Amino acid sequence: MARVDEWPTLKDVRLRALADSPESFLESLAQGSARDEAGWRATFFDGSWHVAEVEGRWVGLARTRTYDDAPDEYYLEAFWIDPAHRDKGIGRRLIAHVARLAAADGRKRLRLAVLHSNDERRPIFEQLGFVADGQPTESEQQMVYRL
Ligand SMILES: CC(C)(COP(=O)(O)OP(=O)(O)OC[C@H]1O[C@@H](n2cnc3c(N)ncnc32)[C@H](O)[C@@H]1OP(=O)(O)O)[C@@H](O)C(=O)NCCC(=O)NCCS
Repeated sequence: MARVDEWPTLKDVRLRALADSPESFLESLAQGSARDEAGWRATFFDGSWHVAEVEGRWVGLARTRTYDDAPDEYYLEAFWIDPAHRDKGIGRRLIAHVARLAAADGRKRLRLAVLHSNDERRPIFEQLGFVADGQPTESEQQMVYRL
């Protein structure tokens, strides 16, 4: 898990994710870039951030949140691996890490929403163990990963 003094690194990696994969996220690069230091510190404390590191450098991120109306779940957001490090199992390891934390916290599922603009990556999430949950809405398809 990321440490509080690492918020500038979080900012750097999150902005790289927004620049690289705008189709994957609700937040835009313009919105992320406009956030000031107080905003980044607040973002840092909003949910839990999990980091994939290679040789000490952050190459991937995921955020988990919990909601009172979904006590069996961790909601996964901002999942991103640097393109130079994709297809090497790093995303799978980050999911496994989050899944271990969720199970230890008594949860039964991870949940994420795949925006339709990111539909072409759905096979990757299926390969990682997520299955579609419910009908798609106008904007997204929910997927769950059972623990
Ligand atoms: C989704 C993402 C995080 C995956 O990270 P990654 O490190 O490349 O993932 P991994 O290498 O651990 O695993 C990817 C798996 O999908 C498979 N895969 C890759 N492309 C695929 C495709 N087009 N169809 C089916 N499977 C595919 C890989 O073979 C691998 O499976 P394997 O481990 O059984 O071989 C990365 O693609 C990413 O950052 N995408 C952009 C951001 C994004 O879409 N985030 C999610 C928002 S909901």
